[in-house]
Amino acid sequence: MALLDLSGVTAAYDRTPVLRDVDLSVDQGEIVGVMGKNGVGKSTLLKTVVGLLAPRSGTVSYHGEDVTDLAADERARRGIGYIPQGRDVFPKLTVEQNVRMGETINEGCDEYLHDTVYEYFPVLAERADQSAGTLSGGEQQMLAIARALVANPDLLLLDEPSEGIQPSIVDQISEDMRAINDDLGTTILFVEQNLGVIRSMADRCYAMERGEVVDELAGEALADEGTIAGYLAV
Ligand SMILES: Nc1ncnc2c1ncn2[C@@H]1O[C@H](COP(=O)(O)OP(=O)(O)OP(=O)(O)O)[C@@H](O)[C@H]1O
Ligand SMILES: [Mg+2]
Repeated sequence: MALLDLSGVTAAYDRTPVLRDVDLSVDQGEIVGVMGKNGVGKSTLLKTVVGLLAPRSGTVSYHGEDVTDLAADERARRGIGYIPQGRDVFPKLTVEQNVRMGETINEGCDEYLHDTVYEYFPVLAERADQSAGTLSGGEQQMLAIARALVANPDLLLLDEPSEGIQPSIVDQISEDMRAINDDLGTTILFVEQNLGVIRSMADRCYAMERGEVVDELAGEALADEGTIAGYLAV
């Protein structure tokens, strides 16, 4: 059964539809990517999944239940974790305070993964008492992931994790996400424009153009750089 299922989702900020009749599903345990050029609606798609934007039509189902009308905080309590584009860590708070914030936001979680997140990202343990604003972009991305992961989400939504991060750290984060998926069984839906990240992280990938899902790639198609590149920046 699909963990997440979007059916006929249309969404808009004003009159112009930004998502048009989007169908998409993610099975339990999968890592699924969504790729597409700037402005095609990738972040908007994740916002409709977390509940920050209500669709004009269509349904969002999670664990087989229609959650289209559920508020974002309720979806978070049900195990949807979200790492926004640009990371949004609290710069004046320390690394540890940011991680604890992830626990506070998800009060009532059965088991927090406080020590586990530091095992995945040892650099955060080294910098636990440092203010988050002093971290590099890559370290801030790790912290944003740790903050979402600490409440042990069933589904983790990740918006352009590689943006503005140096290549070696990008590779490391891709590997970390795969390890998290393997070890903890966390299902991951991520959005990317970085070809390398798509190929190394995704089991399967959707392609978007102008608010529509126009293709779905797996296996050989996902191994073919040319096919992926066609859906990314010109
Ligand atoms: N808060 C908003 N209010 C009005 N329009 C918006 C808002 N956020 C995004 N848009 C518009 O919706 C469209 C899709 O934006 P979205 O951020 O989802 O694209 P994206 O694929 O994530 O792009 P990028 O790769 O640059 O992050 C764009 O035309 C954008 O200008
Ligand atoms: Mg975006």
